Amino acid sequence: MESPELVRRGGDTQAEVMAELFAITQDLVSTHDEDFLLDEILTKARRFLRAEAGSIYQVKDKRLHFTYMQNDKLFEGSADLRLDYTLRPMPIDHSSLAGFVASTGQVLSIPDAYQIPPEAPYGFNKSYDRKSGYRTRSILMVPLMVRRQRVIGVLQIINALDECGAVVPFSPMDEMLGGFFANAAAIALERASMTREIILRTMRMAQLRDPRETAAHVNRVGGYSADIYAAWARSQGLRLEEAAKTRDLIRLAAMLHDVGKVAISDAILKKPGRLDQEEFQAMKQHTVVGARLFKESTSEMDQMAQEIALNHHEHWDGSGYPGHLADIYAEVADPGPGKQGQEIPISARITGLADVYDALMSRRVYKDPWPEDRVLDLIRRERGQHFDPLVVDAFFSTYETIRHTRLRFSEED
Ligand SMILES: [Fe+2]
Ligand SMILES: [Fe+2]
Repeated sequence: MESPELVRRGGDTQAEVMAELFAITQDLVSTHDEDFLLDEILTKARRFLRAEAGSIYQVKDKRLHFTYMQNDKLFEGSADLRLDYTLRPMPIDHSSLAGFVASTGQVLSIPDAYQIPPEAPYGFNKSYDRKSGYRTRSILMVPLMVRRQRVIGVLQIINALDECGAVVPFSPMDEMLGGFFANAAAIALERASMTREIILRTMRMAQLRDPRETAAHVNRVGGYSADIYAAWARSQGLRLEEAAKTRDLIRLAAMLHDVGKVAISDAILKKPGRLDQEEFQAMKQHTVVGARLFKESTSEMDQMAQEIALNHHEHWDGSGYPGHLADIYAEVADPGPGKQGQEIPISARITGLADVYDALMSRRVYKDPWPEDRVLDLIRRERGQHFDPLVVDAFFSTYETIRHTRLRFSEED
């Protein structure tokens, strides 16, 4: 006779459950980007534990930040807009469920959030349900812990569903599986935030040379590139898994587009007026120098970063730079005509547009931000000239998401 716990899992055998967990772990640890990983963690946790909703809290500055949520019932299909920035960080203490789990490191399984006994050391905050009209019933809360004791966040899974779609309590087996899952998720999350920090630190070095390359600018260019890529991949009918993997890579690789500026002299980088011919020629070298930095690496992310650094100033119509180079190490004063159309890797066609969009929308020492409609007009006019027509179409098709990304990484951050 099968256990009811396995029946709820569609009649899986224990071996199948373990195989599923193993496959999920593999996927999580091979995801590089933090935002993307948060999405993966919730999608996979909910699928694995057969639940309707979930959220993630992350510990930052000794407080718990509500960083991510998914809810099939409330926002089906709006995958890109699930982040909620409006909620305030919470203290790590017993005043909330997440605070309790983060401070004690305990797994908490609550059969019904509205029936928590008054003597329990924690309470459920109904305000979100009240605002959204959602009814939270069963909750499973698991600490995201690294190196045994350090809690970096809390994973909250809401409303376990039985095989007919009715809400049921989480089982002891769910608690155990949730714990395994959270272990893998925590390791992946810590690694992803380290990756992003290392990139930002590298760019901070470049920023010492070129003050335009702020952390906010590179974060936005990375974010826009991932947004545009996702829309472009959809329009191309690319396989979902393939698209997800590339989007994860481009999110971070695009941040490094101008890393080669570390090698350009201050006299050129900080010159207030226009560059003369010779200076411009030297400036163009930041593409080649950037590409050289990734030469020895075989990682997919470094390969994409190299592609982007080298080609982000190429134009669709061939009027960009640096053009064809047989060897990026050779000293070539002027490599001649630019690459054209599909010769330019898609990652660089996308990052090139994201970079121009952000530069025009931002204040720079030599210019005020342009009004948004003027920027969008220019992008429309350059469709098929500076920019790949299909990339421009993808940009406009996902423009709401791009706006959202812009707000998230505003200069004040
Ligand atoms: Fe550049
Ligand atoms: Fe840039």
